[in-house]
Amino acid sequence: MPVTVVVGAQWGDEGKAKIIDLLAKEHPMVVRYQGGHNAGHTVVVGDEKYALQLIPSGILYDAVTPVIANGVVVDLPTLFSEIDTLSARGIDCTRLRVSSRAHLIFPWHQSHDAIAEAMRGDDKIGTTLKGIGPAYADKARRVGVRAGEVLDPARFADTVRTRCTAENEIIAAAGGETLDVDEVVAIFAALGARLAPHICDTVNLIHDEVAAGTHVLLEGAQATFLDLDHGTYPYVTSSNPIAGGACAGTGLGPRDIDRVVGITKSYTTRVGAGPFPTELTDDLGDALVDIGREYGTVTGRRRRAGWLDCVMLRHAVRLNSLTELALTKLDVLDTFATVRVCTGYRLDGEELSGYPDRSDVLERVEPVYVDLPGWRADTTGARRPDDLPAGARDLLALVEREVGVPVRVVGVGADRDDYVIWNQGA
Ligand code: GDP
Ligand code: IMO
Ligand code: MG
Repeated sequence: MPVTVVVGAQWGDEGKAKIIDLLAKEHPMVVRYQGGHNAGHTVVVGDEKYALQLIPSGILYDAVTPVIANGVVVDLPTLFSEIDTLSARGIDCTRLRVSSRAHLIFPWHQSHDAIAEAMRGDDKIGTTLKGIGPAYADKARRVGVRAGEVLDPARFADTVRTRCTAENEIIAAAGGETLDVDEVVAIFAALGARLAPHICDTVNLIHDEVAAGTHVLLEGAQATFLDLDHGTYPYVTSSNPIAGGACAGTGLGPRDIDRVVGITKSYTTRVGAGPFPTELTDDLGDALVDIGREYGTVTGRRRRAGWLDCVMLRHAVRLNSLTELALTKLDVLDTFATVRVCTGYRLDGEELSGYPDRSDVLERVEPVYVDLPGWRADTTGARRPDDLPAGARDLLALVEREVGVPVRVVGVGADRDDYVIWNQGA
């Protein structure tokens, strides 16, 4: 199994980082392939908590080479603040490799993100305001600045000055606060010099490792239903988190990928606006948020919460060629009297056969639920399938039946060691 992709199967924050941390033990190279510092990934190791936005979660293992590949948009202030924090905690970050082809985020992207959201009035996306969409838009408009450009410092400084001056005019016209061009140039010249030693042709780096038989883990940020093409447009992010995005985002070909792990919670959450058929807006939703501590790592926003949705997961299997699921946060359901699982959607009284292609249709679907009796027992100490209560085992069996792929790993707590290998597979 040389190349494995880990992808969120819902709307993000499924606990990808914890599963990546688990898999990183057997993958000496861990590669981020899309997104930017809109991601918030938490790994808990005993009393230590690591919150990462850009650096692949694999950095926590000394033997791993962490790579930020070409599909990522890189915010240099965040990258170096993360490097400084990790270094202060004794983690060697000199290993980090950053693709020369990755695009950089600049302060004007954050200005444009805020202006675009303000212009939407009551129909905001609820972006993280990190400049992700505008940075990808500049990439597509072919006016982006790539990380490799820092290797020619004088030219890089000129480019930043020219771009910042041009963007200031657009920001001013939109009524936004213009940037201090000299200050931006000075800050980015210094950050560019820091970035230079990390720059690398990651396409060749990754291919050489794969050819040598090294196990490589491709780490997705965001998730399937935030995918620019396949998510609940326009309430999506601006990259392709789906497994296919891992090819464009790294330069590997589809036939290089052997295994695709979809991460789902035992329920569903979403941050920001957009349709959410199984959302709970009552006390049960509040209980999921409170027990699951569903507040964004990046923005601190309260996440919306609801029951597990197998219609989404079945579609995620299709979109990503999922070979398996990892189901996290089973323990969050420990106290519920009834656990509901959505197994289908109805629209105007008719059962739908597939996942709707339009957000306005998804807004109107009614979930069809299977109700399971809650197990009302603590699962956090479970380490083997037999340790799980019968009700929890029934839930896992139902998910495997409904979704059609095995659930290999089950999360029963935030700590690195809080998991059960449920289905060993073939
Ligand atoms: P990611 O963005 O997909 O990596 O997920 P986040 O890190 O944003 O959010 C997941 C949160 O759930 C983090 O605070 C994790 O520490 C926590 N977490 C992960 N797995 C489990 C689990 O099995 N049980 C519990 N209770 N918490 C978990
Ligand atoms: P991780 O990797 C959850 C959401 C935002 C917003 C939409 C667009 O931690 O799972 P953007 O700033 O990307 O243009 O915002 O996408 N979003 C996330 N939601 N987890 C994330 O990342 C997210 N990254 C973006 O809330 O609704
Ligand atoms: Mg997150």
